[in-house]
Amino acid sequence: MSDWIRSRVVDWTWLGALAQQVPSALLWFDRLLTQHKIGTVVELGTGVGTLTALFALHCTGRVITVDRNDRRSDKTRDLHKRLDVDFLPIDLTAADTPPKIERLLSMRRGDEPVLLFIDGGDKRLEFEQYADPARGIVKPGDLIAIHDCGHEFNPATIRESVIAWGYLRIYEVQMAEENTRLAVYSVPR
Ligand SMILES: C[S@@+](CC[C@H](N)C(=O)[O-])C[C@H]1O[C@@H](n2cnc3c(N)ncnc32)[C@H](O)[C@@H]1O
Repeated sequence: MSDWIRSRVVDWTWLGALAQQVPSALLWFDRLLTQHKIGTVVELGTGVGTLTALFALHCTGRVITVDRNDRRSDKTRDLHKRLDVDFLPIDLTAADTPPKIERLLSMRRGDEPVLLFIDGGDKRLEFEQYADPARGIVKPGDLIAIHDCGHEFNPATIRESVIAWGYLRIYEVQMAEENTRLAVYSVPR
């Protein structure tokens, strides 16, 4: 592991636990949640739950997060419990996971936009499976974000679907120093 990865991603703590996330992601998501008045978040891929906690501190609605492995520390698990986070220990590729999430979202609050945050094992595939408007998870006014640390995702690979579904590009930013990328789209009203 390079010194850069160790110091910038692995070895720093936030809210008392290892963050395992680049610091810039916290800043970008904080801005996104504020600017777009996000009420509810669905996170595909909890990891150690760093961004989950940020979402729960911000949002007035639900935070639903999915991971087939619970990699959270006891401290983070307890924090999530106190913040009322819904952790679903299930596989994103299972056929009944998207309808499960769709059902949970049927209780969304009023007009507040939902952020679908795609951050699991295969981001391109998860985008195709979960962000498809026919699936019923995202609705007009919602946002979809994909964050990539490394080389797991390239916006060009979903461009065709973004165009076909009429989604608007909000950001496709590359943070060169941290070698990360954030792509955010909105579902037009
Ligand atoms: C990059 S981490 C998530 C980081 C987290 N969103 C954050 O920002 O702090 C990716 C997570 O996706 C989970 N994952 C990968 N494939 C999955 C699958 N098929 N079903 C459920 N979880 C999966 C892994 O266990 C891992 O914890």
